[in-house]
Amino acid sequence: MVRNIKLNDGKSIPAVAWGNGTGGLSAAGKKAVDTGALALREGIRHIDTAQSYRTEEETGLAIKAAGADRKAVFQQQHPDHPEGIKSSVTDSISKLGFIPDLLLIHSPFVPAHGKIAVFWQILESLVEDGTLKGASLGVSNFRPQDLEEVLKIAKIKPVVNLQSFPEFSSPGLHLKELEYHPYVLNHLDPVLAIQAKHGIVSESYGPLTPLLRHPTGGPLKPVLQRIAQRLSKDTGKPVDDATVLLLWTVQKGVVAVTTSGNPDNIKKLVEVDSLPDLTDAELKEIEEVGRKVHFRHYKEHMTKDFPEPDLPQDV
Ligand SMILES: NC(=O)c1ccc[n+]([C@@H]2O[C@H](COP(=O)([O-])OP(=O)(O)OC[C@H]3O[C@@H](n4cnc5c(N)ncnc54)[C@H](OP(=O)(O)O)[C@@H]3O)[C@@H](O)[C@H]2O)c1
Repeated sequence: MVRNIKLNDGKSIPAVAWGNGTGGLSAAGKKAVDTGALALREGIRHIDTAQSYRTEEETGLAIKAAGADRKAVFQQQHPDHPEGIKSSVTDSISKLGFIPDLLLIHSPFVPAHGKIAVFWQILESLVEDGTLKGASLGVSNFRPQDLEEVLKIAKIKPVVNLQSFPEFSSPGLHLKELEYHPYVLNHLDPVLAIQAKHGIVSESYGPLTPLLRHPTGGPLKPVLQRIAQRLSKDTGKPVDDATVLLLWTVQKGVVAVTTSGNPDNIKKLVEVDSLPDLTDAELKEIEEVGRKVHFRHYKEHMTKDFPEPDLPQDV
């Protein structure tokens, strides 16, 4: 079974994505191919890449090396160069070897100042003229003000047959990738409110930040460890705190864009699909404890002109 999340255009997106922008996998090379192929062979069905990671060719090669059916692997890509958007996109397509399922604007600072709407319209025209045939469009690291700029002009598609997987013909804003985990929820509230109004699904990068990058793990760590013990006992197999945090993420209806270069951890990422759900009380406790703290790791995009909440980093 693969956990999927429905988009507002009727498509489904695999809820656990494996990215090749961190974990020593970016800047191309054999590691991105071999580890990507391993992740696919283990059962990962969604890869995140970007021009700036310099892993587009490696992404295509990993899919080939794994012998995976290209149609069964959801692939998303971020163009990072505002100049000559069409040639930039076609260059990415030729490096990948196919049109990605989803194309994101990597940050609101990729378009020139004041040009987010124009950039978006050019992406829409590339879907319409067939350059990006079948692709969905999304954004990443957009603050409330950036989302509003796109929403003012985007051709939002009405929801069609939710059961089918239709050829995508009319672009709209369906997805937004951002650092998302319990320690940034207070900061994200204004963004998430706009997304909820428009049915825009969140994709979480850095979902394991509370455990991996917070200096102590903070108040969430013991909660996640306790839930991991409960799940291990109930399922009879070892479940760790990171897996619990990923389960929380996908049960929030958020795509978890994580990664691993470690074969054991890759197996655990795949297991998120088959583990039982956390209970409502566990989901609530993780959110309540997380909201007592503000801790962000990737600061470069979301903090400019979007003030962070006045909360402690640890309690
Ligand atoms: N749009 C953007 O601006 C943006 C920004 C940042 C990242 N991203 C994308 O998001 C992807 C993931 O970002 P991230 O690295 O910050 O995600 P993350 O999920 O917070 O961290 C990934 C790290 O978690 C470790 N890990 C995985 N499973 C584990 C487990 N069970 N126990 C302990 N550690 C575990 C992995 O290390 P091991 O290799 O040792 O397993 C890996 O290096 C990137 O590769 C990139 O594609 C996008």
